[in-house]
Amino acid sequence: MKDEYPHYIEFRHVYKTFDAPVLVDCSFHCAPGETLAIIGRSGVGKSVSLSHIMGFLKPDEGRVIVAHRDITDLEEAELRQIRKKVTMVFQSGALFDSLTVGENILFSLELREDYDEANRADVVKGLLDMVDLAQYEDAYPSDLSTGYRRGVAIARALAAQPDCVLYDEPTTMVDPIMSEDMGRLMVRLKHQLGLTSIVVTHDLDLMRKVADKVVFLYEGRVIYFGPVSELDRCDHPHVAEFLAMDRVDLSGMGGSR
Ligand SMILES: Nc1ncnc2c1ncn2[C@@H]1O[C@H](COP(=O)(O)OP(=O)(O)OP(=O)(O)O)[C@@H](O)[C@H]1O
Ligand SMILES: [Mg+2]
Repeated sequence: MKDEYPHYIEFRHVYKTFDAPVLVDCSFHCAPGETLAIIGRSGVGKSVSLSHIMGFLKPDEGRVIVAHRDITDLEEAELRQIRKKVTMVFQSGALFDSLTVGENILFSLELREDYDEANRADVVKGLLDMVDLAQYEDAYPSDLSTGYRRGVAIARALAAQPDCVLYDEPTTMVDPIMSEDMGRLMVRLKHQLGLTSIVVTHDLDLMRKVADKVVFLYEGRVIYFGPVSELDRCDHPHVAEFLAMDRVDLSGMGGSR
């Protein structure tokens, strides 16, 4: 499998049209252990791309490779197996409000087949430690800030022991300090756990901090795919404009988006 599909995640000439074309001939890939950022304006198809990786959407044309498998034609039962390896952290956190932070994590652990009940308290603590939120085990999600809720959502995603985590706008609606923390956490998880990750973001500071490679989408097409370190040298006018707008944003709006 790995010989045929060396990349952990790959889009091969993916097309998707709803009322209008959203993805047009999109190709990019992400190696195991790498972090790939997907950037571009609102409505350009970033979240739609993540839904293809989760197998919630199927391309009209092209192939989607996930966990070294071509998932394009897989049935729901097989997709569920893939989703054990690749989990998504939703923007809202999607936590259960009536359960404590610890119980939210326990809930995910119980979905795991190999999970050993004897050390569940340790596992919950270990996961919360990983995201620096151990002291909030008995708190309710509604007591926490957006950033902390996202941290809990990440701990919960990690409970499934995934190979890969997808983050959709992890720093939207959190303050700049929390954004920094989130970036540090993502880098730490990548190194400690060898996680592969894909992050959809408008936050170019976060992108520079966490990503190895970047996909820039514009009008449904990939107009840049390459190392984050070379994005600044990309001479595509829309990339240059996007980067310039971000600099204006930073000077004019005090750095928060
Ligand atoms: N299930 C769907 N049915 C019909 N149209 C959809 C569906 N999902 C997404 N779209 C459309 O596809 C386009 C891309 O949406 P998507 O959510 O991927 O944008 P995005 O890049 O994530 O934007 P944002 O930065 O605002 O989150 C939008 O025009 C959206 O309305
Ligand atoms: Mg989106």
